[in-house]
Amino acid sequence: MPFDLTRPLSWKTATGDADTMLQNLQANILKGHVREHLHILLLHFDKGPEDPAEARALLTGLVPLMKSAKTHLHEVRDFKQNGSKDESDTPPYVGVGLTKAGYERLNLSAEAFSDDAFKRGMRADETRANLKDPEIAQWEAGYQEEIHAIVLVGGDKPGSVVTTLREVEDLLTDSIRVLGRETGRGLHDAANRGIEHFGYVDGRSQPLFLTEDLEEEGSRNGGTSVWDPGQGLERVLVADPLAPNPATDFGSYFVLRKLEQNVRVFRQAEEDLADALNLEGSDRERAGAMLVGRFKDGTPLTLEATPGAHNPVMNDFNYNDDLAADKCPFQAHIRKTNPRGSGGFGVPLEKERRHLMARRGQTYGERSDGDLPESGVGLLFMAFNSDLVDQFEFTQHSWANNARFPDPHGEPNPGLDQVIGQGEGSRPPATWPRVWGEEEGQEVPAMAQAVTMKGGEYFFMPSLSFLRSL
Ligand code: HEM
Repeated sequence: MPFDLTRPLSWKTATGDADTMLQNLQANILKGHVREHLHILLLHFDKGPEDPAEARALLTGLVPLMKSAKTHLHEVRDFKQNGSKDESDTPPYVGVGLTKAGYERLNLSAEAFSDDAFKRGMRADETRANLKDPEIAQWEAGYQEEIHAIVLVGGDKPGSVVTTLREVEDLLTDSIRVLGRETGRGLHDAANRGIEHFGYVDGRSQPLFLTEDLEEEGSRNGGTSVWDPGQGLERVLVADPLAPNPATDFGSYFVLRKLEQNVRVFRQAEEDLADALNLEGSDRERAGAMLVGRFKDGTPLTLEATPGAHNPVMNDFNYNDDLAADKCPFQAHIRKTNPRGSGGFGVPLEKERRHLMARRGQTYGERSDGDLPESGVGLLFMAFNSDLVDQFEFTQHSWANNARFPDPHGEPNPGLDQVIGQGEGSRPPATWPRVWGEEEGQEVPAMAQAVTMKGGEYFFMPSLSFLRSL
C-alpha cells in the first residue's frame, strides 16, 4: 500500500511500503542521528564513466557499515525504554551522498533528478551569484575541485567513530582521491545543551516528520499549540529515481556549507549594538539576542525580555504578539529564517512553512576557554531537503540575503539576516528596539559580516537499495 507523503509518518505502526521505505532509507534524514564526533570525507573519482568499477565497489562496500532509518529508530526507542538516552553502544552513523558529477562518473545519467540546484551544483556561477557566495578561489582547497561523493561518519564515542572511519578508508582505492576532510565536534554550554561558536543554543527548532516525535514535542517538550513543527514526508523525502523501486526507495537532497565564524567580530557587534542603544546592566545581553532571536540559553526574545529558558528550550511560539518587531527584530537570524507566519510576501503560513528544512549541522574547530577566534572555527551547516531551490536556496537568497524581507508595509527596511546574511557592498543599517516591547526603534549602522562561506556542495543521499544495486 502506498503511504501518504503529505503527512508525518508513524514509524512504529508503519507496514507495507512505508516499512520498506524505512528499511531502505539512510539514517539521519527523518530524525537526527547523534554526531557529537563527526568526520566528513569529500571524494573525487579519478576514473571516468567508462571505468566506474572502483567507485561502484566503494559505494556497495559502504552499505554493510550503514544503518537504515528503521534500525536507527529502533535503537533510539531501545535507549528510551531502557531509561537511558545513551546511544554510545550502537554503531556510528555512516551517510553517503553523490553529486551530479558523481553519478556521471558511475556511468549513470543524473537527468532523472529534477532539482535545478542539485544539477547546477554549488560551484556554478549561477549558484554563487544567486547566493552571493565568495569566488571559488577564496574557498578552502578541498572545495575548489569538482566533488563526486561525500561520506559522513558520526557518533557519540570518538573511538568507535574513528574505527568506522578507518573501515571506510580501507575501501578507498588509488583512483578515489580524498579532496578534503572535515572534523565536527559538538560544543555544549554548562547545562549540556548543544551550542554554536557564538555561544547560542542551536539545533532546537526543526521540522518533525514522525508522529512519535510530534507527540513527544506536544506532551513533554513544551507543546505544539502555537507553533506546529509537523511536516509531511514530502518536505524531506524524494523518490530515488535510480533505485530499483521508486515506490519504496527514497533519498533526500543534502546541502553542506562550511561557514567560518569570526567570534571576535560577532562579540564586538554585540557590544557595539548594546552601546549604540545605551543598554545597561543585564539588559546588554539583549543585544546579542536581537542578532540571533534567542538569548544564549535559547529563550526566544519574542517571548521574554530576559533569559531563563528551561530544557529543552521553548519552541512553541510565533510572532503574533510582536508584529511590529519591537521585541524580536525582523533581522534576527531565527526570524529571518523562519518568520512563523509573520513574514512578508503575503504568503499564507502553510505555504511559508514549506521552506523549512531538516538541519543537521555540527560545529568545527578547536578553541580554548575565553578565546575569541577570528578564524578556524565555525559551523558545518548541513540540511536535508526535498527541494533545494525552494528550501535551502530560498532561505539564503530570499530571506537571509534580502534586506527588504519582510517588507509588509514598504518600510522599514529590516536589513540582512544578522548571522548569515551575505551581500555585495555595504550592509544597510537596521532599526532596533531600544526598550523591549516599545515601538520606537533606533537606526544603527550595520555590523561587519561575522560568517564567511568557505565552500560547500549539494548532494543526493540515495536509498540503500540503490547503493546495493550498483
Ligand atoms: C554559522 C552559521 C550559523 C549560525 C551561527 C546559526 C545559528 C543558529 C542558532 C543559534 C539558531 C537558534 C536555535 C534554533 O532555533 O534551533 C538557529 C536556528 C535556525 N537557523 Fe541557523 N545558524 C547558522 C547558519 C544557518 C544557515 C546557513 C541557515 C539556512 C540558510 C540557517 C537556518 C536556520 C533555521 C531555519 C533556524 C530555525 C529557526 C526557527 O525555526 O525558529 N542557519 N541558527
